[in-house]
Amino acid sequence: MTRAPSPRWLRRPYDTAPRFAYGADYNPEQWPREVWHEDIRLMREAGVNIVSLAVFSWARIQPAPEVWDFGWLDEIMDLLHAGGIAVDLGTATASPPPWLTTLHPEILPVGRAGETIWPGARQHWRPTSPVFRTYALRLVTAMAERYGRHPALAAWHLSNELGCHNVHDYSDDAARAFRSWLEDRYGTIDALNHAWGTDFWSQRYAEWEQILPPRLAASHPNPTQQLDFKRFSSDALKEYLRAERDVLYRLTPEVPVTTNFMVMDGTGGMHYADWAHEVDFISNDHYVRPGPQALDELSFSAALTGSLAGGRPWYLMEHSTSAVNWQPVNVAKRTGELARDALLHVAHGADAVCFFQWRQSPAGAEKYHSAMVPHAGPDSEVFRAVAGLGGLLRELAEVTGATRRPARAAILFDWESWWASEQDSHPSSLLRYRQEALDWYSAFLALGVRADVVPRGAALDGYDLVVAPVLHMVPRTLAKELTGYAESGGHLVTTYFSGVVDENDHAWLGGYPGALRELLGIRIEEFAPLLDGESVALDDGSTGTLWTDRITVTDDTVAVLAAYRTGEQTGRPAITRRPVGRGSATYVSTRLGAEGSRGVLARLLDGAGVTSELPEEARGRVELVVRGSGDTTYWFLVNRTDAPVELPGLSGELIARTPDAGPWAPGGSLVLGPRGVAVVRR
Ligand code: GLA
Repeated sequence: MTRAPSPRWLRRPYDTAPRFAYGADYNPEQWPREVWHEDIRLMREAGVNIVSLAVFSWARIQPAPEVWDFGWLDEIMDLLHAGGIAVDLGTATASPPPWLTTLHPEILPVGRAGETIWPGARQHWRPTSPVFRTYALRLVTAMAERYGRHPALAAWHLSNELGCHNVHDYSDDAARAFRSWLEDRYGTIDALNHAWGTDFWSQRYAEWEQILPPRLAASHPNPTQQLDFKRFSSDALKEYLRAERDVLYRLTPEVPVTTNFMVMDGTGGMHYADWAHEVDFISNDHYVRPGPQALDELSFSAALTGSLAGGRPWYLMEHSTSAVNWQPVNVAKRTGELARDALLHVAHGADAVCFFQWRQSPAGAEKYHSAMVPHAGPDSEVFRAVAGLGGLLRELAEVTGATRRPARAAILFDWESWWASEQDSHPSSLLRYRQEALDWYSAFLALGVRADVVPRGAALDGYDLVVAPVLHMVPRTLAKELTGYAESGGHLVTTYFSGVVDENDHAWLGGYPGALRELLGIRIEEFAPLLDGESVALDDGSTGTLWTDRITVTDDTVAVLAAYRTGEQTGRPAITRRPVGRGSATYVSTRLGAEGSRGVLARLLDGAGVTSELPEEARGRVELVVRGSGDTTYWFLVNRTDAPVELPGLSGELIARTPDAGPWAPGGSLVLGPRGVAVVRR
């Protein structure tokens, strides 16, 4: 992290008063010109005031190495300007055109087994290719020179979803860049040999040149090599992001830059907490994955995005009006979900609400992906809901600029523990880091208690209780920090497979949970993971899966909050809590799941003095998120159910509500319609 987070928000050339940015990815090159005029008319009708343009337009803008065609883009930029619609302009580098990959096939990424990733989809470029970079930066320069002073320009949109398809590239370019990254990190080959533990399996390196990415090997590649390759791959893309950004900072320093993160991404290839400081404002893309935790996951991702943005407003760059095209079954959104999902992002700090995409494509891989204007045209439920949301955002304009008000509890989210805990050759291949974190978040939601999701490195001292699930990688400094947190009154909760390794992925010796052993006052000699489908009962009524530990309590102040009632560990501690200074440190040795963690979390919150701000009957059924500016706070109340929910005795002033559920007077019962949202000024 090199620069302090920049508080620059996007420029809003047409705004005379604060308002939400509202819009979509706009791909006019897929449509004849006649449609463009209708687009602008319909955008205005729907309240759209910003679009992301040219994201995938490279082949149109530069149809051959020395041929540039800006005419069509000039025209649409001017049309949007005339319509008062601002542009988040793509650098257009996301998908290289066929002429480039024909001329330079050496820019194509390579998979683990040495297979070429061919053109035909998108993002088929090596993050470390010097050839790709030369061509891409030439395009960025051309875009900046042509449009840097265009009156519609609100921000630059670097590439698109960096790393969505190409974060892990095993090519020779990657090998060269990996070696130089390792030299920077370790300085000497001896230091690398130590960090990688290369005396195992005769892997000792004599020269940097001998080192390769963890390509397909006869058995499990070296774990630290794998971990460093993940670190390197995230850094390589970050470095590419910087290269595009620096061209723009040089040519158009007054224009803010952003790039769309994918905080929901389940593979975690991009260390966004480490990228967050590289852009002027945070943008995120989010798509709902249907299932019992769909809405919890939306909230979790939005909360994490809010933390990456340092509590300041952020830009929801993409979400969907209805179905996507890339899930096994692509479920349409039900009535009310379009507005509810969008407003839940707003609740967590989004001041820009955008969709992928404006008009549903008639051709191409995404033709069944919903849009603001569906195949059916504007005479459709979707377009009416889109226009309805435009109206709602206008009613909510005063909320823009308000920051997220921190909660009293948090979940600590750590990319390095994620990477390290899910590596191969571990006690269990079934462990899912992000799912464990999400389950604890679901438990908070079920109890009606607000929780932030904060990356490692964030200040914890404002939180009464912090859950750090599967905090697997604990360097000495982190162990000290967490001990300090508990000693000064914080209540720390951690789980199985935490504290186990240092920053080189070497096991801390002397018993688990390694670096956290003293803080937790327990010792484990051997892990006892469970087979898929196996479960154990705890004497507090909960059920554990995935993992158990054979725990010995080493400190007599430790209280056993729950013991195993069945299985190999029967009678032994399952959940322990050690009083530490004015705080405490709790260890949960099994996977309790979203429902199972509720009970223990309720007890721990009680002990930490953290209570729900919601009336009892609404807890679990309504999510509360708070934004505020100055003395004013905005309570976002989101009905998580398909039935009406009544909130008795609510004070404040209702500024918007969806769907309309009858009159309300402060202090009376506010009824939230099914999937409804209300925003109350207090
Ligand atoms: C991503 C991309 C978009 C589009 C959507 C579809 O978010 O950035 O171009 O492909 O997915 O959901």
